[in-house]
Amino acid sequence: MSRDTSVRSVARHNRRLHHPERALSAIQAKVRTESSETQGGGELTHSRTTPWLLLVMVEGAGWVEPALPEETRKNVGLYQQTEKLEEAEGLDPVAETVQGAVKAVIRPGRLKDVLSGTWLGHPVHPLLVSAPIGAWLSATLLDLTGGHESEKAADRLVGAGVLAALPTAASGAADWSDTLAGERRIGLVHALGNYAAVALMGASWVARRRGRRSLGVGLSLTGDVVVGAAGYLGGHLAYNQGVGVDTTAFETGPEEWTAVASEVNVLEGEPSGVDVDGVRLVLIRRDGELFALAARCTHRGGPLDEGTLEDGCIVCPWHKSAFRIDDGSVVRGPAVTPQPAYEVRAVDGMIEVRRREPKGLRTAAV
Ligand code: FES
Repeated sequence: MSRDTSVRSVARHNRRLHHPERALSAIQAKVRTESSETQGGGELTHSRTTPWLLLVMVEGAGWVEPALPEETRKNVGLYQQTEKLEEAEGLDPVAETVQGAVKAVIRPGRLKDVLSGTWLGHPVHPLLVSAPIGAWLSATLLDLTGGHESEKAADRLVGAGVLAALPTAASGAADWSDTLAGERRIGLVHALGNYAAVALMGASWVARRRGRRSLGVGLSLTGDVVVGAAGYLGGHLAYNQGVGVDTTAFETGPEEWTAVASEVNVLEGEPSGVDVDGVRLVLIRRDGELFALAARCTHRGGPLDEGTLEDGCIVCPWHKSAFRIDDGSVVRGPAVTPQPAYEVRAVDGMIEVRRREPKGLRTAAV
């Protein structure tokens, strides 16, 4: 009996008994058994993948305890397809050309800082995203349940969503301009999906204005699906690839005073990198005073110990973000998050550091 057939028969049997939870457990046990039988047995076929995908879904919903090994979970469904997209080097020539054009328009400076969220202390793109999506989903709700009186409001929401998508796209482009490799490929497809959704919503608005309501509703429903798929890739960019995430978020550094370098090795005006407790720091001596910051730039991880000093700031060599050396605050973006600053002192010819303000998430189990 094939895996699909055997699993379905167990599920049917238990469903007849009106015990869906028993059916799920039986499927889980069956797949676990067959999984161990086929370890190393080559690629999963589509038909074999079906019950596995079902299990991933019911387990994800918390209905049953996880049964599939982590490696198997990674090898099914959307995650696998997204990883393939991440590795699709064929996208690179297009991505490189488009990125060059974006960089020519959104240069380092005030416009880029505004679009990145430097003024807010948080990436601005995730905040803006909620405006068009919220407007479009509200329009769909009115289309499907609001009746004739809601038609005008639904049409306005579709148009408002298109307008809100413009600054959202600009902020996304600013973030994307500092990506590379897999992030850049996923970001490109994410953007193309969103542009397609904007085009569909724009066409929907025009159709509605011309009295072609059914066509307009159909176009906006299609736009909802496309923006949802593009949103999945946006989630992958943030949660799997860490674009927009403070790259020092999980760095802890030493809690107690710890010697990291001899005083004579840190020269006036020359940033110097040291490693302590698995964290790289940059030590700086300015006018005889010592400073210590995390060396991994909070923006995209650039090496600040290879940066330059400028007006009381250290400038990242990658995208030129500037951080004050005394407290790590951002003076110039595209970085949005301050650089972690460490307490520093000299004792018996040695430089000692300890972290300043541990955050709960960085030091404790969650
Ligand atoms: S990595 Fe982008 S400014 Fe440092």
